[in-house]
Amino acid sequence: MKTHKSKNIVLIGFMGVGKGTIARELSAQSGMFAVDTDDLIESLENMRIKKIFRENGEDYFRNLEKTSAKWLENSVKNTIISTGGGFYKVENIKKIGTIIYLESSFDAIFERILHHPNAKRKLAKRPLLKDLKKAQILFEERTKEYENCADIIINVENKEPKKIAKEILLLL
Ligand code: S3P
Repeated sequence: MKTHKSKNIVLIGFMGVGKGTIARELSAQSGMFAVDTDDLIESLENMRIKKIFRENGEDYFRNLEKTSAKWLENSVKNTIISTGGGFYKVENIKKIGTIIYLESSFDAIFERILHHPNAKRKLAKRPLLKDLKKAQILFEERTKEYENCADIIINVENKEPKKIAKEILLLL
């Protein structure tokens, strides 16, 4: 698929799949800048995601995702955008850029998180990963929705971020 040069690249997928890591690798390989929707929200509120969930609840956080989605649609181009795992639900997602779904099994995602040097922090900052059973249900509910939303699906299991980024750039 050939995309317009000014089109953003939007990475979607489940928590811990490696969206941020792959965004940075894409940035390094392409020379495009990268932004992350959770970072945008944290700066807008001057508060960590975990605290936003705790103090204001999930609905409030989802509204902040909508606000950042509008800003991304109207003001950002030629940028790699990594997103929070539920960001794909914003109604204008398709208008933001080319949507790339980073696909992996639930087990591989958890292996990746648990073996990370910052595993404790990675789990602590994600309120929706607190309960493994609930996280697995969420994963199963979302899989079809991620697929339906995507322009391109890339399987990332057991692949190096460098290789994944190269594969994505070749497809665009
Ligand atoms: C969420 C994923 C998180 C963060 C928030 C909600 C989700 O981002 O946006 O905790 O609904 O899946 P990551 O996918 O970067 O962990």
